[in-house]
Amino acid sequence: MRSAVVSEMDNRFKVQQQFDRQAAFYRTDPVFDNPSGLKQLTALARASATDSALDVATGCGHMALALASTCATTIGSDISDGMLRQAKLLARERGLEDRVHWVRADVERTPFADRSFNIVTCRVAAHHFVNPRAFLAESWRLLKRGGRLALQDCGAPAHSAAADFLEHVEKERDSSHAALLSEGKWKELIAAEGFAIQSLRFESHRHDYNSWMIRAGVSETKANVIWKSFLDNPPAVREIFRPEESDGVRTFNYWRITSVGVKN
Ligand SMILES: C[S@@+](CC[C@H](N)C(=O)[O-])C[C@H]1O[C@@H](n2cnc3c(N)ncnc32)[C@H](O)[C@@H]1O
Repeated sequence: MRSAVVSEMDNRFKVQQQFDRQAAFYRTDPVFDNPSGLKQLTALARASATDSALDVATGCGHMALALASTCATTIGSDISDGMLRQAKLLARERGLEDRVHWVRADVERTPFADRSFNIVTCRVAAHHFVNPRAFLAESWRLLKRGGRLALQDCGAPAHSAAADFLEHVEKERDSSHAALLSEGKWKELIAAEGFAIQSLRFESHRHDYNSWMIRAGVSETKANVIWKSFLDNPPAVREIFRPEESDGVRTFNYWRITSVGVKN
């Protein structure tokens, strides 16, 4: 128990170090500043003008700012001061500084009262949470009846050797990575918390390798070593990732879960 607590604290410290250092790379990155993806998640959460919304692990605040243009009130929270500084800058750049409040908070223990929000969102961050159950329980606590939890994250492929390989790569890329969850595991955890699953999509897409490495601050030498490990996989695993390089652009298959759970 004590070692689990220490390892959670250790991971939070790693997250803060990693994202304080890399924050500026996230503000302008098209993977994060992605208007069509943000619009889609806002629509899936059924955001409306009367809703109060919270975007946890908000990073540079892209999701919070998307919600703010629809919802009555929006808060973006994160554990990294560096990311929150970028979020404030982005809000100013977009003339939305009066529409969002920024709060420094851990996803597992936020300072907000029970049943404060109609919407909680969490995008591309849950793979850093050592205890995703605690994040789901906190989201449940914060939501009003009828409230929606909209979650998007990268996910583990179904093939176990491929999942093990990707887990290893993720940790090499960013030591604050905790774990990728499979489609089945997410379904189990979301439902176990009491949410009715309104929608759940698990899909693969081609992921840009170089920008993925640069965003995390991986040196070119190390990025080349990791890329070689994609190519050196046994054929069955290699086929799952299909690493390809064309004109210096490296891509591979990567997985994403998008789910909305309702607190009925
Ligand atoms: C890859 S960024 C994603 C940012 C944002 N959700 C987005 O989609 O643009 C991951 C973010 O999760 C935050 N994070 C990770 N663990 C956290 C925790 N336990 N509590 C709060 N924030 C956390 C990091 O500080 C970082 O800003």
